[in-house]
Amino acid sequence: MTAPLTLCFVVGARPNFPKVAPILAALRSQPDVRCILVHTGQHYDPELSAMFFEDLGISPPDHLLGVGSGSHAQQTAQVMVAFEQRCLEDRPDAIVVLGDVNSTVACALVGAKLLIPVVHVEAGLRSGDRTMPEEINRIVTDTLSSRLYTHCYEANDNLLKEGIAADRVVMAGNVMIDTLLRLRPKAVRPEGSGLDLDSPFGLVTLHRPALVDHADSLGPMLEALAELAEDLPLLYPVHPRSRARMASFGLGGEGEGATRWRDSNLMLCPPLRYLQFLWLLDNARLVLTDSGGIQEETTVLGVPCLTIRSNTERAVTIREGTNRLVGVEPSDVLAAARTVLGQTLDPSSTAPPLWDGQSGARIADDLVEWLGRR
Ligand code: UD1
Repeated sequence: MTAPLTLCFVVGARPNFPKVAPILAALRSQPDVRCILVHTGQHYDPELSAMFFEDLGISPPDHLLGVGSGSHAQQTAQVMVAFEQRCLEDRPDAIVVLGDVNSTVACALVGAKLLIPVVHVEAGLRSGDRTMPEEINRIVTDTLSSRLYTHCYEANDNLLKEGIAADRVVMAGNVMIDTLLRLRPKAVRPEGSGLDLDSPFGLVTLHRPALVDHADSLGPMLEALAELAEDLPLLYPVHPRSRARMASFGLGGEGEGATRWRDSNLMLCPPLRYLQFLWLLDNARLVLTDSGGIQEETTVLGVPCLTIRSNTERAVTIREGTNRLVGVEPSDVLAAARTVLGQTLDPSSTAPPLWDGQSGARIADDLVEWLGRR
């Protein structure tokens, strides 16, 4: 009797969870495959982690490394130390990492040094901006990976330009969209948001250090959003990082539950569950964000998205979707939002190639086949 194929999946932060769910689900039907799920603990608050596991139907992790927050070096190093120990005990046949968070690169480094093949899901995205920690994480992870699953053809081109062999790269489509399509019918309208969700509303998410870690960028952006909220009431589920910065800069945001920002129609609320956030995304008139995944989700849902950044690694959502890159000047964001509000909403949505709900199954099949050939 041959031993089952042991695959170790690593998750750590909120965006990893909707990406891992469809691959794990697809592997359940593969014979002789054992999946181990390791959660590094990069995100630990229930609303950033445990509630996502519930909504997405992922079984609890087999191992929780409990690493928590810290500087980039501290967090990356602590994940590496704890994960190395895990690998030495479990001896997986491959390590699967997802996306571009610190846990992703830390575990890719461990796998590469232990000579365990590393598999990267969502490979090849590039913003060209190395001031973003995620860009460093992407480049290093891709360099170290033996199998790279991309979600758009330009990601393949990026990898080939960096000298990664074409036979390591597989365009598999977008696993996060598998989750969105599966759970869209189960989305839950949030209660107690403080906004009238029967009337048009906009949705905001801002959490990137480049924007929220500086009082002179965060303050004027909140003021511009409050001004926009006079035309379109806005709901902003605030990431703990942004909440902490607002408090330390004296920019408000204290208080439990939903609160108005300085008596405006910009409503702040705690982070939401996956199914609640999905309902809001699907029903918003406009989304303003600096997130990566939300640019993709709005594209598939056909909801206009303004990305408040000066670059994006997801240009496919601009070319083929509803996304627009508007920069970080508050006056430009306001002008772009008003332009969108002046336009009739196009109800059709678009999905780039292979964003079809089958990406998890494609990855599961390819992984088993590829590992069987090694
Ligand atoms: C991380 C990812 C980012 C991703 C985001 C999604 C990196 C480099 N960044 O950013 O790519 O878009 O997750 O949410 O990996 N905190 C809590 N509770 C938690 C987790 C964090 O309060 O459960 C607070 C802590 O003050 C912490 C801060 O948020 O210092 C930042 O957390 P961290 O995981 O370092 O980065 P994120 O900003 O969440």
